Amino acid sequence: MKIVIGNDHVALEMKLQIKEYLEQKGIEVIDVGTDSPERCDYPVYGEKAAKMVVSGEADCGILICGTGIGISLSANKVNGIRACVCSEPYSARLSKQHNNTNILAFGARVIGIELAKMIVDEWLNASFEGGRHQRRIDMLNEIEKRN
Ligand code: RB5
Repeated sequence: MKIVIGNDHVALEMKLQIKEYLEQKGIEVIDVGTDSPERCDYPVYGEKAAKMVVSGEADCGILICGTGIGISLSANKVNGIRACVCSEPYSARLSKQHNNTNILAFGARVIGIELAKMIVDEWLNASFEGGRHQRRIDMLNEIEKRN
């Protein structure tokens, strides 16, 4: 499995910790930055990661900024992306099972590293359930096409 990871300056330390956590599990991580603590703009990294998921260069993505909100909004502007902000594991699991999210986001100013790892595990271990949920994903895709 290949995961693309992206972040802004606020989330640099948490990104490095999550990256190491994933690599220890044998997961290949593509890091699109930022690798600098200098102030930067989260849309740059949200878009970079999102494009890699849509192109298939990565299987899925993890994005981190202060709240997870800005960087997930950026990713959701890319057609085909379903990014969600999760601050607890239950929503992370359901976001995969029901919404087939392909990007997980969270906030380095909101949660601690151990909770972030639990959220990541819950998301990665969950599977899309299909069925009635696929119809709703199809409806989301139609909204993208119409607008
Ligand atoms: C940066 O100050 C902050 O706005 C950013 O990390 C993020 O929280 C935006 O949604």
